[in-house]
Amino acid sequence: MPRTEFIATAFHVPERVVSNDDLAQLMDTSDEWIVQRSGIKTRYWVSDGETGASLATQAARKALAKAGMRAADLDCIVYCTCTPDHFEPGNGVFLERELGLTDIPAIDVRNQCSGFIYGLSVADAWIRTGQYRRILLVGAEVHSRGLDRTTRGRDTAVLFGDGAGVAILGPTDDPARGVLSTHLFADGRHAEDLWVDAPGLAHDPYISEELIRQGKHRAVMDGREVFKSASLLMPQSVAAALAANGLAPADITLLVPHQANLRIIEMVQKAIGLRDDQVCTNIQKYGNTTAASIPIALDEALCNGRLKRGDLLVLTAFGSGFTWASAAVRW
Ligand code: UT7
Repeated sequence: MPRTEFIATAFHVPERVVSNDDLAQLMDTSDEWIVQRSGIKTRYWVSDGETGASLATQAARKALAKAGMRAADLDCIVYCTCTPDHFEPGNGVFLERELGLTDIPAIDVRNQCSGFIYGLSVADAWIRTGQYRRILLVGAEVHSRGLDRTTRGRDTAVLFGDGAGVAILGPTDDPARGVLSTHLFADGRHAEDLWVDAPGLAHDPYISEELIRQGKHRAVMDGREVFKSASLLMPQSVAAALAANGLAPADITLLVPHQANLRIIEMVQKAIGLRDDQVCTNIQKYGNTTAASIPIALDEALCNGRLKRGDLLVLTAFGSGFTWASAAVRW
């Protein structure tokens, strides 16, 4: 069976940069509070006319150019997002249409911050079995339009940003390279610890002025519970990936963790016992872009020359659900 390799990665963020001082004009917050609690200094927000699918399209075009491929060379889209442009259909078909494709499958993965690794796991299985050979894996989010940009929503509004990151995946016959393993976890007991209640068909009607008045269409989070669980479970997922491959923390060239909070990443680094140069962070610039955070960070790391052939890359994520996941990749 072939392994799955990363053929190319790319990302795209909107032009509009939003600083912590900009947010302090909208709500009762401060640069000091946001930097101290989360490490975030700026994030990007979409402008009129931009959508998740349009960000993903730009990122996909950049990756295709890097790979020297045409859109027609793709044979499947795996699109990970928790902020779809519409209630249905999923965003994958909108991206497919933007790329001028009409005859390849497009699947949406709704696993929030863990979406990209869940999507990687699906794509990896398809590539290894030979079902598809060139998969466009996407993590893309538009959070800004869903945020409560008033003091009521400040605990979440300051954290999230918009952006899209993609990877083009394909088979390699080199047994020493590619995705070594993926590890997926979920615990629905925490479903309401970070969620958006409505619109939802558990409600009748599924959206109403009353639900909106109650703020049920906004992300609500038990920040402390999320923080505690993320700090504990991301290191456990990395340990699972290392154990499955007979590897140790010292073997990791680069850990690309989901960028949720700089303090969480620092706790994860400490729990695993990694040096600074083994861990990738860019939350300072982009905020938390959920399913897009890992592919954006990975592409930046590659552009900065932080991974070379044969290096060990480990991915880990944690988020709403709770869901969490990891992957080990021999570059
Ligand atoms: O991808 C997964 C998604 N989410 C996460 O990973 C987030 C995980 N959680 C966190 O990152 C942290 O819990 C937060 C950054 C959200 C909050 O940090 P914290 O240290 O847990 O603060 P807190 O929620 O305990 O709030 C402390 C205080 C509260 O005021 P009082 O009750 O002590 O008077 C909040 O009302 O900070 C207040 N506060 C703010 N103040 C200024 C909450 N948000 C803000 C804000 N600006 N934006």
